Amino acid sequence: MTTVPVRLYVNGERHDIHVEPRRTLADALREDCRLTGTHLGCEHGVCGACTVLVDGQPVRACLMFAVQAEGTSVRTVEGLAPDDTTLHPVQQAFWENHGLQCGFCTPGFLMLITGLLEETPDASEDEIRDVLSSNLCRCTGYQNITKSALCAQRAMRFDELSEPTADAEVTE
Ligand code: FES
Ligand code: FES
Repeated sequence: MTTVPVRLYVNGERHDIHVEPRRTLADALREDCRLTGTHLGCEHGVCGACTVLVDGQPVRACLMFAVQAEGTSVRTVEGLAPDDTTLHPVQQAFWENHGLQCGFCTPGFLMLITGLLEETPDASEDEIRDVLSSNLCRCTGYQNITKSALCAQRAMRFDELSEPTADAEVTE
């Protein structure tokens, strides 16, 4: 088996791994870096459960080879919370707005929303809804995920968490 060296910076930590060229970034994160928070659903780019941030951009880790991520900075769900007792604003918003049920899709949504709100803090509700439509959830019906994203947006912009305002309410 031919392997090649790959250096990843995951959540600020350097990982020097050796992988087959065909190994996906998702498998490298889960099996070589031992970071199993990145979930695998469809493994062919449809569900978004495997979404991570690569140099700040949301990426489906099942569609990217680990060798393509050589030298990049990768953020996974394990790197979201600033410490063991504080949630990231997006995590906090999901908790407060019941943005998850079984939780399988949640790491992907958390990373997708974090990437969006860091890149586009003033994203409109329509833009947020459009981005959220790229990931699949079989449990929630998306209403509470959307509420969570809007709440997180407010928290990240104003450094506070509160219920979405009336104009940010999600229509059923
Ligand atoms: S596991 Fe990557 S998109 Fe579904
Ligand atoms: S919470 Fe179960 S798939 Fe989304």
